[in-house]
Amino acid sequence: MREMNIRPRRLRGNDILRKMVRETRISADSLILPFFIREGNGIEEEIPSLYGQIRYSPDTIIKGVEKALKSGVSSFMLFGIPNDKDENGTGAFDEKGVVQKAVKRLKKEFGNDVYIITDVCLCEYTSHGHCGVVDGGIIDNDNTLPVLAKIALSHTAAGADMVAPSDMMDGRIAEIRELLDEQCFSNTPIMSYAVKYSSSFYGPFREAAGSAPQFGDRKSYQMDWHNGKEALKEILLDISEGADIVMVKPALSYLDIISEVSKAINIPVAAYSVSGEYAMIKAAARQNLINEYNAMCETAVSIFRAGADILITYYAVELTDAIKKGDIG
Ligand code: PBG
Repeated sequence: MREMNIRPRRLRGNDILRKMVRETRISADSLILPFFIREGNGIEEEIPSLYGQIRYSPDTIIKGVEKALKSGVSSFMLFGIPNDKDENGTGAFDEKGVVQKAVKRLKKEFGNDVYIITDVCLCEYTSHGHCGVVDGGIIDNDNTLPVLAKIALSHTAAGADMVAPSDMMDGRIAEIRELLDEQCFSNTPIMSYAVKYSSSFYGPFREAAGSAPQFGDRKSYQMDWHNGKEALKEILLDISEGADIVMVKPALSYLDIISEVSKAINIPVAAYSVSGEYAMIKAAARQNLINEYNAMCETAVSIFRAGADILITYYAVELTDAIKKGDIG
């Protein structure tokens, strides 16, 4: 018999073959675009910390959503920036609050052509900038729960399709679920920010939303990034309380967590590629140190490759264009 000299080798070929065998597929349907909405009228301003992103008001957000819809993005996450803040963040559940107004307008304008998710948290609405009610300088977990439920209910009553609590208080998913069910919103899903690390990558967001804590930090309620196993514990707790989708945040420094979580559970996993991740690419690209388009594509694909089902990203529109071109997906 003739002896064969077979060497193991990597598959080689042209673009058609490369696309044929891609292991990771992305669709615009899995992308969510965040928006910042400031109280007022006619606002359309560049966000300095998030170069390329625009802050709208409840009237102009129609334009922002329209543009995104044209490109093929139809899911949006709304963050509100109120004019007035107080100790207890009461603006967060005001029927005429900035998010509530925006949701109402968007649903009236676009109906079921858009899917509106609202961030449920107190930090943009409290004068101290913390995500919970503060008592004697300490974040009061249990007294924050009913307030969060009230916020979620007010968003849902305004027409939100899904609520996303990002505060990291213990027990809030159960509390929100119970109130929504009681008020006949049992079909409204909850996307829980289940694994939210105490990260430096939120910096540009806090600048954009004016939500930096005025004293201390968020380490008492956000997770320590030395810990991985704890992530699964948080996820399982939130699932047992009724979370429909769980989120890992940030994304890029936590691909290991996304990977483990997605293998361990049987509900959708969302990853939030946060403001600092976006800003890093923008800043490096503006200095011609990296190619923005390629870095955007590579990082987004890496998050899906790790196991995410959904990606929340400030690059949602640009990624959709990249998918259309066939560069990713
Ligand atoms: C509110 C919230 C934050 C982000 C999402 N929801 C800020 C924070 O926890 O400090 C960050 C998102 C981003 O950085 O893009 N709690």
